[in-house]
Amino acid sequence: MKLTARETRYDFSERDTVVLFLPEGYQDGKGAVIPEGISHITNQANLGFFKGKSGECAFIPLAGEPALIIAGLGKPDEITRETLRNASASAVDTARKKKIAALEIIPPRLESLGEKDVIAALAEGMYLGNYGFDRYKTSKDDVDAPAQSARFNSGDASGAAKLLREISIICSNTLLCRDLINETSERANPVSIAAEAKKLARLKGVSCTILDRRDLEKLGMGLLLAVGRAGQHPPRMAVVRYAGNPRGKKSLALVGKGITFDSGGLNLKPSGHIEDMRSDMSGAAACIYTIKAAAELGLKKNLYAVIPLCENMLGGNSYRPGDVYRAFNGTTVEIGNTDAEGRLILADALAYTETRLKPDYIIDIATLTGACLVCFGEIIAGLLTPSDELAGALHTAGESTGERLWRLPLYADYAEDIKSDIADMTNVSSTRNAGTIIGATFLNAFVKSTPWAHIDIAGTSWGSKQRGYRPKNATGYGVRLFIEVIHNLEI
Ligand code: BES
Ligand code: MN
Ligand code: ZN
Repeated sequence: MKLTARETRYDFSERDTVVLFLPEGYQDGKGAVIPEGISHITNQANLGFFKGKSGECAFIPLAGEPALIIAGLGKPDEITRETLRNASASAVDTARKKKIAALEIIPPRLESLGEKDVIAALAEGMYLGNYGFDRYKTSKDDVDAPAQSARFNSGDASGAAKLLREISIICSNTLLCRDLINETSERANPVSIAAEAKKLARLKGVSCTILDRRDLEKLGMGLLLAVGRAGQHPPRMAVVRYAGNPRGKKSLALVGKGITFDSGGLNLKPSGHIEDMRSDMSGAAACIYTIKAAAELGLKKNLYAVIPLCENMLGGNSYRPGDVYRAFNGTTVEIGNTDAEGRLILADALAYTETRLKPDYIIDIATLTGACLVCFGEIIAGLLTPSDELAGALHTAGESTGERLWRLPLYADYAEDIKSDIADMTNVSSTRNAGTIIGATFLNAFVKSTPWAHIDIAGTSWGSKQRGYRPKNATGYGVRLFIEVIHNLEI
């Protein structure tokens, strides 16, 4: 979708579609009201039925005038950037259903947010809401037509244009992230995703190394190799570097879980739990498209992405419960359950990241535990970290982007539960309790001293239904959050 800006004018033609946003009580002049310049159009419409409630959206064709799409904003004193994103997503939803290609946006004037923030939030909602995964539909008749362009009428057109260029980069990469997650595990496999990561090296400042099975053997990545053993496609690990600030010494490493299909392994997942497990590489996808967005934005920051990739499958060659494998850092791990595979591949990747790349911060992102989905639903991600600095940076970025997270504790007492009789550790707790904390506690053992945070996106990476600008299925959670965190960290 093309996002553009111009100085505010109300010279619309009858072929245009004008998008307006109205809060509750707009009839009484409370909150944002209808701008003078377009009252000659809105006067042609009977707005009496429109209450301005959040989620409310109307399409109003008018004879001899532009058509109107009106989206409600809810109570004026409850309007946030998230409200605006969802309102503009419902406007673009309406446009898609009507196959309207071009939109003229009139941003509401609000007391609580400046025009820049309003335009940014509306543009994000519009771009992110304008998404469908239809590459396997043989007839395009039964799919909505994405809108092609949105033009924002602004008091500062050049400022808005610059903002919209950045938003286009971040949001287009969020959509690519969704595409990769929604893609079938046949096509989005460890080898093809590694190739996708390798493509990033075409961008200025980016380099990428792909480690194959032999490289992983030489490095001693016993856990990643064990999980990937029965896969149709061999395991890979992508190591991507973005050097946007060559004079700076600091860097952030992102580590993303890349299980391209999680069958559970010999601890096979039952029906009802296995169907969407191609999304178990959502963390990996978020890392890839964060680097791509950062490079396209030309951020003056130093980043790494380390992406362990494999399939968790079952067969004669599968790794088994009761086996013991040696991790990259020498720790021996007893396999209590082959379905707790994410922490295994991340353990190798985290230890590699800390000792070989020596970054100043490490953040991993993973669809790690069903327990996180049970705890937070699909709304909020789990955040576990010993670092108050990273917790603060991530929480702030979560609130401003809408990719929210909530911190859970990492008390040392939990480590008791993953001691093994025969090895240094086991990958599951002897109790069934505190699943998300146990997962993070396991990972914690593979990071020695670098400030580290773990984000569990088992709930937020995939929607069982559409919620505002977040579609059903892959949400692309992580890209927008990370770009915001990267802005705020000194790296
Ligand atoms: N990929 C799953 C976690 C998951 C569950 C993600 C639901 C998205 C939706 C992970 O590999 C897993 O299977 N975790 C197990 C761990 C258990 C065996 C300790 C789980 O949560 O059941
Ligand atoms: Mn699993
Ligand atoms: Zn998994």
